[in-house]
Amino acid sequence: MSTDYPVIVYGASGYTGRLVAEHLRDLGTPFVAAGRDRKRIEESLRLVPGIENARYEIAEVDHSVEALTKLFTGRKVVCNTVGPFMRYNKEVAEACLRTGVHYLDTTGEQSAILQLDEHFGRDFVKAGLVMIPSMAYMYGMSEIGARHCLETPGVDSLRLHAIANAVPTVASAQTILDAVRHPCYYLQDHELVRYPGIENGQVCTPSGEVLITSNWGGSSNPIWFRRDGRVRNCKMDVAIWNQELYKKELALERAYKVQLQWLPEDQLVQVLDHMAKNITPGTPPREARQVHRAIDTCLATGNTVSVKSTIFSTGGYFTTGLLQAYAARRLSLETPRVTGLRSPSEVFGHRELMGALESYGYASIKVERVV
Ligand SMILES: NC(=O)c1ccc[n+]([C@@H]2O[C@H](COP(=O)([O-])OP(=O)(O)OC[C@H]3O[C@@H](n4cnc5c(N)ncnc54)[C@H](OP(=O)(O)O)[C@@H]3O)[C@@H](O)[C@H]2O)c1
Repeated sequence: MSTDYPVIVYGASGYTGRLVAEHLRDLGTPFVAAGRDRKRIEESLRLVPGIENARYEIAEVDHSVEALTKLFTGRKVVCNTVGPFMRYNKEVAEACLRTGVHYLDTTGEQSAILQLDEHFGRDFVKAGLVMIPSMAYMYGMSEIGARHCLETPGVDSLRLHAIANAVPTVASAQTILDAVRHPCYYLQDHELVRYPGIENGQVCTPSGEVLITSNWGGSSNPIWFRRDGRVRNCKMDVAIWNQELYKKELALERAYKVQLQWLPEDQLVQVLDHMAKNITPGTPPREARQVHRAIDTCLATGNTVSVKSTIFSTGGYFTTGLLQAYAARRLSLETPRVTGLRSPSEVFGHRELMGALESYGYASIKVERVV
C-alpha cells in the first residue's frame, strides 16, 4: 500500500466514516478508507458524492494493535470513527503511539476521553503527538461557543445547553446506551464532581418552548476546562427535540440499576446492543439539513460580567465529517503547537474551527455581551 495517503479513516464503512471521506475528498486530501470488512467499505464509499475523483485506497484491517500498527506506519493522522469508544479506542491509540501518528475521534463520552488520557496522555506528550477526542458536533461545537465567551476577561463559569435533532446511527445508539453505565461529571470550583445519575432539567428554546434536558453523559467540556485556570465551573445539558428519548434514557438507567448491572460484561454488552437495535435497526438515511438542526448556547458569567454565545448549526453528522476532515488535513501538513490529550479548539483555534463551519454553511454564531 502506498504511503502517499497521510490520513486513515478508520470505520470507513460507517455513517460517520463515509462523511469524513466525503469532506476529505472535498478538501483534496488523499486518504485510506479502513475497516474490518472491505465489501462494506466499498458499498459505503459508493454513496459518497464525488467519490469518482477522490484519491483514496481501501484497507481491510483487524481491530488489533498489531494489524493497526502495520496499517498506520508511514501515515500522519487517524480519524477514528469506530465506537462505542470505551470498547474500542485503546487499540487505535496504542497503534498511533507506536507509529508516531496523531489521533482524532468522534467520541462524546467523558469515560472514553478519560480512558485515553489515563492510558496514553503522557506518552503522547513525550512522542510529540496530539490525541483529540470529540472532533465532532458533540462536543466540538459547544466548546467553540464556550471559548468565544472566554475571550471576555473575568468570565469564570460556563453553563452550556444543546438542543439537538438527530437520527442516531447504529453505533450512536449503542454509545448512548453504553454511556448509562459509566460515571459522568461536571466542574465545580475547579474539581470534577460526579453526577449521582441522570439529572433532568429544563431549557427554553429561542422560540419560547420549554424542553426537558438531561445531563447526557456530562459532555466533553468539563473534561477540557478542568485544566483551564480561568474556568471555575462548567456544566452542560442536552435537550433532544424528540422528547421521548429522555424518558427512554431514564427507563434504561432504572433497568440498569435494578437488573442489568449484575450481568457479566459480555452478556451485558449483548443486551445493550439488542436494545440499541430497537432504537436504530440499520444505517439511517442521509441527514436532511432542513430537519436536523441544533442550537448550542453558552451563558458565561463572572462576578461583574456576563456574555452569551448562541450557535445555530445544521446536520450534526455533516459537521462531524467536516471537523474531522479539516483537522486531518491540518495535521497532515502542520506540526501542532501542543501535544497530548487536547480539545479540538485547543489545537486548531475556536475561531478557525468556526470559520471552517461557516464556510460550508454548517453553522453561524452570535456572541452578545449581557453585562
Ligand atoms: N460526538 C458526535 O457528535 C458524533 C457524531 C457522529 C458519530 N459519533 C460517534 O461515532 C461513532 C461511530 O458512529 P457512526 O455513525 O459512524 O456509526 P455506524 O454507522 O454504526 O458505524 C460504526 C463503524 O464502526 C465499525 N465497527 C463497529 N464495531 C467494530 C469492531 N468491533 N471492530 C472494528 N470496527 C467496528 C463499523 O464497521 P462495520 O461496518 O464493519 O460494522 C462501522 O465502520 C459512534 O460511537 C457515535 O456515537 C459521534
